[in-house]
Amino acid sequence: MRFGILSTADIGTGSVIPGIDKSDHEVGAIASRDGARAQTVADRFDIPAAYEGYEALLDDEDLDAVYVPLPNGLHAEWIRRAADAGLHVLCEKPLTASAAETAAVFDYCKERGVTLMEGFMYRFHPVTERAVEVVSSELGEVRNVTSTFTFRMPDEAEDIRLDPALDGGSIMDVGCYAVSAARLFLGDPDRVYGVTNDRRDCGVDTEMAGILEYADGATARVQSGFETPLTQYYRVETTDGWLTAEPTFDISPDTAVELTYGVDDRQVTERFDPTDHYTLEVEHFADCVERGETPRVDRTESVAIMEVIDAIYESASEGGPVALD
Ligand SMILES: NC(=O)c1ccc[n+]([C@@H]2O[C@H](COP(=O)([O-])OP(=O)(O)OC[C@H]3O[C@@H](n4cnc5c(N)ncnc54)[C@H](OP(=O)(O)O)[C@@H]3O)[C@@H](O)[C@H]2O)c1
Repeated sequence: MRFGILSTADIGTGSVIPGIDKSDHEVGAIASRDGARAQTVADRFDIPAAYEGYEALLDDEDLDAVYVPLPNGLHAEWIRRAADAGLHVLCEKPLTASAAETAAVFDYCKERGVTLMEGFMYRFHPVTERAVEVVSSELGEVRNVTSTFTFRMPDEAEDIRLDPALDGGSIMDVGCYAVSAARLFLGDPDRVYGVTNDRRDCGVDTEMAGILEYADGATARVQSGFETPLTQYYRVETTDGWLTAEPTFDISPDTAVELTYGVDDRQVTERFDPTDHYTLEVEHFADCVERGETPRVDRTESVAIMEVIDAIYESASEGGPVALD
């Protein structure tokens, strides 16, 4: 599969372009608002075509798909434009800023016969697959999940994550991982209670804590923020044990990961060699397109995560719990 890259975003140049380069697929073109910037990145990664403006890239007939690492607030527009050009779309998380818009972009792509997948790369890391397997096959009933992703953003940072016009905010940026992991182990909650704080007075949440409540009284606690040092983990507690993995979400391709679980009086640690989950994500996406299969991170999952996020925002604004359908 030949990818076009929409923008010179850090996540593209730092992780996903190298991830594609290690896969069976290739980068055929890159576009930037600034043509010289696109050319610089093209030279660095040996990308054959560089364009000024994203629309120009969509006219490149040698491409099969686009990877969209634009600011969150621009995802939906460029997903639709890429679909109009007949290109499959791998788009960064969060796909859009609401469940309704997420459902709408999936429907838009389906109508045009192109595949859309949200780039939750940690879902393709073997440690995540194994954690789900252990919880479902070796541990008892899940009663609680604690899932956190925070990092300390410099005080004077100028960052798309602090811009309300670009759908910034800690929930959008890293809280979506916490919600995604809670869903992996507990499914979809019945009620959500959320608290957010705009500590920098910038118009978006820079801290969030949420409680998700399930039909049988099980709970998940989710947390995100830009105000405290890097913490990324989940811990699953069951009637007979527990499981945790760290790091959990942003796992560098040269980092080994440990998954540890305890059940009854037994404790097990499994070690995972360094793996590039961006390469695995790209390969999965391309395989699904080729075989006409639905990606692992599908419409149902992406919409369900956003429904919880919508509810966290609503709860934080209304000051009470919000019921989900
Ligand atoms: N999966 C992951 O591991 C991961 C990690 C980090 C971020 N992300 C996601 O990836 C996306 C990009 O994040 P990032 O940290 O890589 O962002 P970034 O470095 O700030 O890059 C965003 C790019 O978007 C383009 N752009 C277009 N309009 C813009 C505007 N009004 N303001 C700023 N930039 C604009 C710019 O590229 P040009 O100037 O070249 O057009 C810019 O380089 C976000 O959706 C984020 O949630 C995912």
